Formats: sequence, structure tokens, C-alpha cells
Amino acid sequence: RVVAVIMVGGPTKGTRFRPLSLNIPKPLFPLAGQPMVHHPISACKKIPNLAQIFLIGFYDEREFALYVSSISNELRVPVRYLREDKPHGSAGGLYNFRDLIMEDSPSHIFLLNCDVCCSFPLPEMLESHRRYGGMGTILVIKVSAESANQFGELVADPATNELLHYTEKPETFVSDRINCGVYIFTPDIFTAIQGVSTQRKDRANLRRLSSFDALDSTTRNLPTDFVRLDQDILSPLAGKKQFYTYETMDFWEQIKTPGMSLKCSALYLAQFRFTSPNLLASGDGTKSAAISGDVYIHPSAKVHPTAKIGPNVSISANARIGAGARLISCIILDDVEIKENAVVIHAIVGWKSSIGRWSRVQASGDYNAKLGITILGEAVSVEDEVVVVNSIVLPNKTLNVSVQEEIIL
Ligand code: GDD
Repeated sequence: RVVAVIMVGGPTKGTRFRPLSLNIPKPLFPLAGQPMVHHPISACKKIPNLAQIFLIGFYDEREFALYVSSISNELRVPVRYLREDKPHGSAGGLYNFRDLIMEDSPSHIFLLNCDVCCSFPLPEMLESHRRYGGMGTILVIKVSAESANQFGELVADPATNELLHYTEKPETFVSDRINCGVYIFTPDIFTAIQGVSTQRKDRANLRRLSSFDALDSTTRNLPTDFVRLDQDILSPLAGKKQFYTYETMDFWEQIKTPGMSLKCSALYLAQFRFTSPNLLASGDGTKSAAISGDVYIHPSAKVHPTAKIGPNVSISANARIGAGARLISCIILDDVEIKENAVVIHAIVGWKSSIGRWSRVQASGDYNAKLGITILGEAVSVEDEVVVVNSIVLPNKTLNVSVQEEIIL
């Protein structure tokens, strides 16, 4: 049997995701109309002999209760949220719940970061992992040399795929192969994590008795039960025939900012063509709006037949889109009202916001720039004929004049 664990972090993480993370935990923010964490969870369906899925985080249980019960019913696989009392790091969090994770005596454990967007080739990883025979296999991808330092950079043996060297977010270039935050382990991983925390305890004791200190300054002050998978496990165990790599040729992105969530929403919508074509709006029928490209529309949303929608648009529950409205590359959240002839391009429109007649909410569409997409927080009201360009508007604001390149607090 196999289990899957998805690390969802907590409210102190995800701060770069503001203002969208102000009213919803980042893992539940909708991409392509489904909560972010739904995409890795539904990828787990393809794992043979999957016994359970665990979400580990330090958000309040209540935030995940509704989602966890509905997805368990839908998948017919138990999905449980396990709450840490404090952050233990990516490996420490796993170790903290080892007894529950090992309940079904799984032979393998998948570990997925919730804030990555990819095709999650899990069955393929499992197969390669069995062939390699190590303790763990890491999903890797080749990225541009300029962007590699935002991630864990690694070197693998081209013939055996063994992980030879691993450095987390290095200052000087090591490799353009990076850690995708998707792993498969044998239960031996728990022994490895335990080893790190025992070693820390011993060193802390030694430090108390003498002035000797073998640890570098970044590790010295960490609690003994705080263990990071990357720095504390992968780096020291690289080159010891314990870890191997599986390289994906498919898409992969990390979702740290609202701009990246808009890009990843597009990637997941495109993937729906193959995995869930029923979720894509077809635009068939005389009473439906004109649809171009990949579009998701929640069944409860009301879209006027003269509106033009797409590509890359996702419209959530109870949104109302008026006559002649034009939406391109945007995420429209629950209960939003977009009035007649308004235009929304490269933007995220927060819950319960309203956009007036002939208004424009738009941006350049540079997903990596700070103001490259326009974001309206919850319950923002843009009055008629107002133009909002490359701006971020915090919740509950009313805009009655046009703004450009501004953060409205
Ligand atoms: N439950 C829990 N508890 N989750 C955590 C904790 C914790 O203490 N710390 C981090 N996480 C979750 C985050 O929510 C995220 O999903 C994942 O673990 C990794 O977060 P970070 O440890 O902050 O690392 P990162 O995202 O900056 O980088 C990691 O992922 C990259 C791929 O996306 C590293 O492993 C990089 O090497 C890797 O390239």
C-alpha cells in the first residue's frame, strides 16, 4: 500500500500571496476553479493501491474541514487534515505524524508541496523509484540558469540518476536541475529524520558542556524537532546511494505570488483538456456566451450571452457577468459582479467585488513583476467608467477615480 502526504504550510507562510491569503488559506485558493491543493490530490488518484491522503499544516482544522470531507467522498479515498501545533519544517512535519502515516503499513510514501503546479507524474515516479532501490526519489526539472537559484539546485549521475550533490537556493550557480518539491520515500525516511534531530540534540548538549560547535550559524538556533527536507536531509545524504532523481519534461511552476497563481490557473486549465474536459466551458448553444480558449465557469455563475470570455478565465460560484463584458486571463472569485461592458484583463477579482459599467481592470500580464497583474481584494468596488491598471487594491476599498501602478491600502 501507498500513502500520500501534502504539505500545506500555515498562516505565517504564504505572506507573498497577500492580499488573497487574507481571507482564505493559500492552499484553498482556486486555480482553474479548483482549490490549489485539489490538483495534487486528484493526481494521487492515479497511484496504485493508495490507502490514504494526509494534508499536514499548521492552519486551524476548521479551515480545511469542509474541503477534506467533500474530497474524501468524491475520491472515495480517506483524506485527513493533520494539524501541527507549530511549524516543524518540511521533514519535521512528516516525522511528527509518523504513527498515523504508518497506520496502514505503507511500503511507500509520497510527499508533495502544495504550492507547486505540475502534471504530478506519480505512477511513473513510483516505478522508477522501485527500479533505483533507494530511500527516496525526487522529481526534478531543468530550468533556466538565471532562475535556478530560487530553488534547490542539484546534480545527478546521468547514467544512474543518483543524486550526487544538493544545495538549497545557492548564492553561486550549481546546476540548472532543480528540486520540484515532489518526492517518494520508503519508510526509512523516518529513521533519517530522526537521525538529524538526535544529532542536533547531541550537539546542543556538547555545546552546553564545551565551547565546541560543529554547526553553522543557520542551523545552530533551530529547535531539535525542526527538520528541513532539503538542507537537513537531501544535502548531507547526497552521493550516498540513498536518493535518486526522476526528471519531468512536462510543465512545472512554483506558486508563491498571485501573479504565478494566474499563470498556473492557465496551465491547469490547459491540462483539463486531457484530464477533465467536462470542466471546460464549451460555448455551445445559442444562449451561451462566446468562449475562446480554456475557460472554467462554475455552474452557479451567471454569464450574459453577449459577454466574451477567454482564454484563461476561471469564474467561481455565484459570479454575475453582465452584457457585453470582456474577460481575458483572469480569475473571478465567488459572488463577484461584473457589470455591462466592463473589461477585465490579466487580473484577479476578489470575493464579492463589483466592477462598474464600462470600467476596465487590467495589467500588462507580466506574471513575475510585482504589479504585473491587477489584484482586487475582497469586496472592492470599482465604480462605472473607472480604469484600474497594474495595481493592487486591498479589501473593502471603493475606487471612484482611475489608478495606475498603485497599491491602494
Ligand atoms: N506542514 C508544514 N509545516 N508545511 C511546511 C512547513 C512546516 O513547518 N514548512 C514548509 N511547509 C510547506 C510549504 O507550505 C510548502 O508547500 C512546502 O512545505 C515547501 O515550503 P518551504 O520549506 O518554504 O520551501 P520552498 O517552497 O521555498 O522551497 C522548497 O520547494 C521548492 C519547490 O517548490 C525547496 O524544497 C526547494 O528546494 C524546492 O525547489
